[in-house]
Amino acid sequence: MTEAAALAAGRWMGRGKKEPGDEAAVEAMRLMLSTVEIEGVVVIGEGEKDEAPMLFNGEIVGNGMGPRMDVAVDPVEGTSLLAQGRPDAIAVIAIAPQGTMWSPGPAFYMDKLVVGRDAREAISPARLAAPVAETLAAIAEVKHKPVDDLTVFVLDKPRHAGLIADVRAAGARVLLRTDGDVAGALMAATPGSGVDVLMGIGGTPEGVIAACAVRALGGAMLAQLAPQKPGEREAALAAGLDIGRVLTERDLVQSDDVFFAATGITDGVLMPGVRYTSEGATTDSIVMRGRSGTVRTIHAEHRLEKVINLNPRPC
Ligand code: FBP
Repeated sequence: MTEAAALAAGRWMGRGKKEPGDEAAVEAMRLMLSTVEIEGVVVIGEGEKDEAPMLFNGEIVGNGMGPRMDVAVDPVEGTSLLAQGRPDAIAVIAIAPQGTMWSPGPAFYMDKLVVGRDAREAISPARLAAPVAETLAAIAEVKHKPVDDLTVFVLDKPRHAGLIADVRAAGARVLLRTDGDVAGALMAATPGSGVDVLMGIGGTPEGVIAACAVRALGGAMLAQLAPQKPGEREAALAAGLDIGRVLTERDLVQSDDVFFAATGITDGVLMPGVRYTSEGATTDSIVMRGRSGTVRTIHAEHRLEKVINLNPRPC
């Protein structure tokens, strides 16, 4: 599913437009999803039905024959990254038993902290509100390296000016990206990726998707709603959401039986993007299964004359 989405989106890399690549990826992912043996419901999708024609929240997906599952999709995570040809645009999907994925309702933004399993023990719910320097010191201690050697992924947004200054003042290094905090969470949760921690405010749907990967990888995640848009706080409260609650990856996806897959669209830290060749294209993906803890990396060669309907040319 993510390979199909990436193949369709990759044609739109660097063309300066966000929507067509996203639309192509949505269509391709939905087509493949319809063949999967699940009775799925989209919990994290492209938005509400009236604004998203496909893969909208609540849409029934799969071929209807298998187990009942919650489905979280982001056919292009980092639509601006794709449009600008910047690194780490990815296609992602996560699947878990029905009723186990947390639904953010009308809440758009949450504060997040992610580490890999080698730093799990440094993380308790109080860490999200703790001073940045203390948290980084605790992470550095369990990772047996100085704070100076830590790299912290932060979205490059005006709201993070204070956070970025705090991380630097603590002595750690900052990896800034304009978009794409699912990729950032994947990096932080993957030992040896070169990124030790993700900090900062990003989307709630992206938070749930990231939690599926973090859970499968055995890492730790903390999240708390952090309304940014006018009316967002009021809407979240009216929907019964608890703005003060610190959620962990286990609250965001309440089952070990979680599947997560990501395919690179543009080149990134964890995997290359789609490469088009004279014969077709290659993709690189990561696939995880929470119950077994297995992580597979898959390099695939695609003969595009055979999958042409997944790969419309933009011009
Ligand atoms: P899109 O793929 O929908 O463009 O989202 C990209 C993203 O950067 C996410 O990774 C992140 O969680 C969110 O947007 C941050 O939102 P904002 O750009 O409004 O701060």
